[in-house]
Amino acid sequence: MIDFLAYAYPWVKSLHVISVIAWMAGLFYLPRLFVYHAEQVGQSGETHEMFATMERRLLRAIMNPAMIATWVFGLMMVFTPGIVDWQSVWPWVKAAAVLGMTWFHHWLGLRRKGFLNEVNTRSGRTYRIMNEVPTVLMVIIVFSVIVKF
Ligand code: HEM
Repeated sequence: MIDFLAYAYPWVKSLHVISVIAWMAGLFYLPRLFVYHAEQVGQSGETHEMFATMERRLLRAIMNPAMIATWVFGLMMVFTPGIVDWQSVWPWVKAAAVLGMTWFHHWLGLRRKGFLNEVNTRSGRTYRIMNEVPTVLMVIIVFSVIVKF
């Protein structure tokens, strides 16, 4: 198993980065959809249905599988010998930021249910501000994993 992980490492890392791109695309786009959905007060029920469908598909078809793939390929590299030096600071910083990203994903999932049941209480401005969370976390993660302080 260890031999396989060492052999597969560059492939696993590529798949990890591909999954990260898909996950991040959704984490940036879904809060934007929420901004427009929250601000469409007074529009027809059809507009609400259209946003609800876009949000469901984005979360279920892209973001959930991409998050799972990111975790699976990331953890495969964690268990590959010689890749993560737990004496350094960067793996801990990255782990904290990744947990934050996962929390944000679940927060978006809860908000989507709120929109679906027409009980959203947050404003477009709140979603605009929350839209910056994945950006900040992404910057922290990329510096951690590439600079390796
Ligand atoms: C979900 C849990 C995650 C785990 C367990 C994980 C773990 C890892 C590990 C062990 C590596 C290999 C580091 C190395 O080769 O030195 C790696 C590489 C990488 N990760 Fe993650 N990661 C996760 C999520 C993320 C996220 C959310 C991002 C971006 C926002 C990200 C971006 C990257 C990048 C860009 C690399 C390649 C760095 C390089 O060129 O060596 N990872 N990840």
